[in-house]
Amino acid sequence: TWTMGSIIEESVAAIREQVGDKRVILGLSGGVDSSVVAALCARAIGRQLTCVFVNHGLLRKNEPEEVEEVFTRQFDVDFVHVHAEDRYAALLADVVEPEEKRRIIGSQFWKEFFTVAQDLDGVQFLAQGTIYPDIIESGARKTGGKASTIKSHHNLIPFPEGVHFDLIEPLDHFFKDEVRALGTALGLPDHIVHRQPFPGPGLAIRIIGTVTLEKLSILKEADAIVREELDAYNAAVFAETGERNSERSVWQYFAVLPDVKSVGVMGDERTYAYPIILRAVESSDAMTADWAKLPYEVLGRISSRIVAEVPGVNRVAYDITSKPPATIEWE
Ligand code: XMP
Repeated sequence: TWTMGSIIEESVAAIREQVGDKRVILGLSGGVDSSVVAALCARAIGRQLTCVFVNHGLLRKNEPEEVEEVFTRQFDVDFVHVHAEDRYAALLADVVEPEEKRRIIGSQFWKEFFTVAQDLDGVQFLAQGTIYPDIIESGARKTGGKASTIKSHHNLIPFPEGVHFDLIEPLDHFFKDEVRALGTALGLPDHIVHRQPFPGPGLAIRIIGTVTLEKLSILKEADAIVREELDAYNAAVFAETGERNSERSVWQYFAVLPDVKSVGVMGDERTYAYPIILRAVESSDAMTADWAKLPYEVLGRISSRIVAEVPGVNRVAYDITSKPPATIEWE
């Protein structure tokens, strides 16, 4: 029978056989798929794996620290933390257009990644978290699939001249649920295994207009409150229903920082500060989504906490638009 244990044993054996005594490199984003590949390769080949974590400074509050913790303390792999925050900040300084942000962030990732790769000796393989639906989707893309033409998502690897790696894609016949189950069986923590979708370009596409360090810091704090409250809300729904994606739970939830300011009042003082937009949707595949009918108490608590705890914010608005006609993200 197909137990999780036997699936892992088979994958581990296949990776060992393919890799032999060569080295493997992997771009670790902190997302579910690349983390599960890393955990699987850690079990199969240990320190023959180098995980490259390119920190673009656009992850959510505490995420870089959490990724580093898991892949240095819990798994025994070679872990490289690339501090690229300043380079990304400089590249994005004057950029407003969303697709331009995506293009810059995506191409800089590969520059950072190959800089590390070229310094390592004897790397023959590149491991990737491609899952089965990615393969279907890229098929759809070639035949003019619509989703990918609205926002550019990823993922064709622009190998520099003269560089070649053989690919290892151990998840390419699994669906997302199976990948999560694998992750749990391999000992990855819930905050990674059940992480909500998070776009590769990160918070840069949740700051409308130019990205600055001040705006990033406001958004990180506000987003941390949104996640804390809605993680707790989802946990309560899960405790009641036993379902992680029940009709009442929220699928993706985050804060957006628009490029406007509005007037408010605090004590006797007039304020002129940013609003935060709360986005929370129900979905199963991100192709369509409904805005979440959250209880007023939950909405109220998120709003009060953000204006009380995040300097520079004096108003909170809730986005009550479904997809279509809106998209889930604002950019
Ligand atoms: P939209 O905004 O198109 O998003 O309704 C659908 C899903 O895709 C995520 N998303 C991205 N993921 N790179 C990614 O890896 C991107 O550039 C990107 N843009 C959107 C979004 O968070 C949602 O889950």
